[in-house]
Amino acid sequence: MNDDVLTVHGGTPLHGSIEVRGAKNFVSKAMVAALLGEEPSRLLNVPQIRDVAVVTGLLELHGVTVCLEDPAVGELHLDPSNVERAAVADIDAHAGSSRIPILFCGPLLHRLGQAFIPDLGGCMIGGRPINYHLEVLRQFGAAVEKKPQGISLTAPQRLQGTKIELPYPSVGSTEQVLLTAVRAEGVTELRNAATEPEIMDLIAVLQKMGAIISVDTDRVIRIEGVDRLGGFVHRSLPDRIEAASWACAALATKGDITVKGARQLEMMTFLNVFRKVGGVLDVRDDGIRFSHPTGSLNSIALETDVHPGFMTDWQQPLVVALTQASGLSIVHETVYENRFGFTRALREMGAQIQLYRECLGRLPCRFGHRNFRHSAVISGPTKLHGADITVPDLRGGFSHLIAALAAEGTSHVRGIGLIDRGYEHFQQKLDALGAQYERSDS
Ligand code: EPU
Repeated sequence: MNDDVLTVHGGTPLHGSIEVRGAKNFVSKAMVAALLGEEPSRLLNVPQIRDVAVVTGLLELHGVTVCLEDPAVGELHLDPSNVERAAVADIDAHAGSSRIPILFCGPLLHRLGQAFIPDLGGCMIGGRPINYHLEVLRQFGAAVEKKPQGISLTAPQRLQGTKIELPYPSVGSTEQVLLTAVRAEGVTELRNAATEPEIMDLIAVLQKMGAIISVDTDRVIRIEGVDRLGGFVHRSLPDRIEAASWACAALATKGDITVKGARQLEMMTFLNVFRKVGGVLDVRDDGIRFSHPTGSLNSIALETDVHPGFMTDWQQPLVVALTQASGLSIVHETVYENRFGFTRALREMGAQIQLYRECLGRLPCRFGHRNFRHSAVISGPTKLHGADITVPDLRGGFSHLIAALAAEGTSHVRGIGLIDRGYEHFQQKLDALGAQYERSDS
């Protein structure tokens, strides 16, 4: 993977129009939801990214027929009529590339009475434990057993609705509860739930399938279990992380990018920050135009947080843009303990970024005084110069790419294939925006 290199000739402002399709962090979950139904489902606006291929593979291993009817409109048909057990070795072969397998647990426990989770992959941005997931599944009545190849789960009887309070509003754990509670016996009450737009879209999918779910304004979700679920037809919400990534690329390269498909509602917090930094935006019916002002960018202090806060996934691309802002910017990362690893490469390219263990913000954070460098102070503007860098994780990798595009001179960005996990056709989009680069796979 580290052998695929993008040689980027930076310094050219990105100009033009690109399109974002369905959200990676929703589409994969909606595909898992299809496993709960007795009838086929149709998911629209599905992007061609590697995470979708991984979930397709996992579903097929479990007997679900998955068919991409029309790649141009991203129409995916999922038929779960013949769900079956998969071989542990086959599931394991998919391990390491995605964290989605953990969300198969509830649906498989309902359909087959058992499930197996291999060692999980995903991005290297922190410990990424699964303790909340396992605790939630135990509360529904699942028996959880650690085995050498992974974790084996069984449901000795029908899973039971329960009262759950999450220690932190975790996105994945909230999805775990939803995907399990909808077919459990009785009512489940979830407190301290995550309420990201991708979760709301998942709730919409489950409701279309026949689930009964209500969401209160105080992070409480109530689910009344039902005996049977049908299929769904649903169009995914757009990928607001990808949209914001391109917006930051416009800022960092002094460019002007129209992101078709981007939607204001899910991006309001980002749009406020973009504007405060000095970016110019124009919200249209079919997308959002993001451009650099003629003058300089402003520094800013911000903290990442769960929705409706500033997403942690927006942080990495924004930090690249902040290297071009005048003055000191402060970013306090409160979702992951270790999401500033990517700044090392930026420093090598000339950025002035200092990391601190202290919480440099007003939010009480789980990582203060615990030896995690989770606050960053960025001093700008600094000229970035080309460098030889390696992609550390999905969002950090895209940020490296933005930095290379903004830098003077030539950069070699290694391990670029990782970006295919979550950014659809990113090279075609770079072409459309006039980026100067070559890719070599060895
Ligand atoms: N956490 C635990 N124990 C758990 C689960 C989570 O301590 O059992 C902690 C995590 O370590 C983290 C925090 O809770 O510190 C939040 O994690 P969360 O469960 O919300 O994250 P996730 O569901 O694993 C999803 C996205 C991430 C995104 C986060 C936060 C997917 C596939 N991934 O992860 O997206 O950063 O929510 O919004 O939906 C990405 O797209 O690049 C990405 C990393």
